[in-house]
Amino acid sequence: MAGCLGGGGDTITIGSDIPYRPFEYRTTENELVGFDVDIAQAVFTDELGYEHEFQETSFDTIIGSLNNGNFRVIMSAMTITEDRAEEIDFSDPYFTAYQTAIVLNSSDISSKEDLRGVAVGVQKGTTGESAAKSLKEEFDGDLTIQSYDQVTGAFDALRNNQVSAVINDNTVNAEFAEQSDNVRFLEGTGAAEEQGKENAPPYLTFTVEEYGIGFRKDDDELREEVNGALQTIRDNGTYDEIYSKYFSG
Ligand code: ARG
Repeated sequence: MAGCLGGGGDTITIGSDIPYRPFEYRTTENELVGFDVDIAQAVFTDELGYEHEFQETSFDTIIGSLNNGNFRVIMSAMTITEDRAEEIDFSDPYFTAYQTAIVLNSSDISSKEDLRGVAVGVQKGTTGESAAKSLKEEFDGDLTIQSYDQVTGAFDALRNNQVSAVINDNTVNAEFAEQSDNVRFLEGTGAAEEQGKENAPPYLTFTVEEYGIGFRKDDDELREEVNGALQTIRDNGTYDEIYSKYFSG
């Protein structure tokens, strides 16, 4: 009866902004894959016995959509923030991330200070956008922020020299850098070192963040089931298996 545990055949709909490689993206065969996709399978289906289904949505409006009932939960590499936690609840953290900046190899930008006065690309509504806004304040307004509906818009703008840097989650920037071969991270110490993070990435970090699965505020029962399943997959090695599939080292 494992298939009936908790769900009794319910389908959990999962709102997500795609593509956000390596968390949620499509292969050339149009198959939806990624770290979140595998975690969703392990948690909702393998552990809790629900059917589940991803539903594409825009990141900027994803919290309102959840609260409107367009889907049951959010899994979208979403950072747990205080502001968001006023509107929705989060699972226990399931991934640590850092805001980082990438530039073209050919760029003469080599430090955070060099970003003063340039245009940076971010995805609308993300913590990358918030990090850019904080930087703009630090620079007394001397920074231009270009916000794109999807992170791929920001990456394209970088490639086309429409922005000088992209501020975004480290592993997503790393994936893009790996595929591009003409992109590098800005180096330097930052939030990761200040917060004493072991395994801090070897480049400049603006923030340290944790991803959570998002729930409506009245969905405590499901949230607690999911927290239990997240703990189980950490204990039984499934989490590590999924992790090493998408991230080396
Ligand atoms: N972690 C960042 C945030 O929560 C970016 C998430 C963007 N996710 C996505 N699937 N596009 O704001």
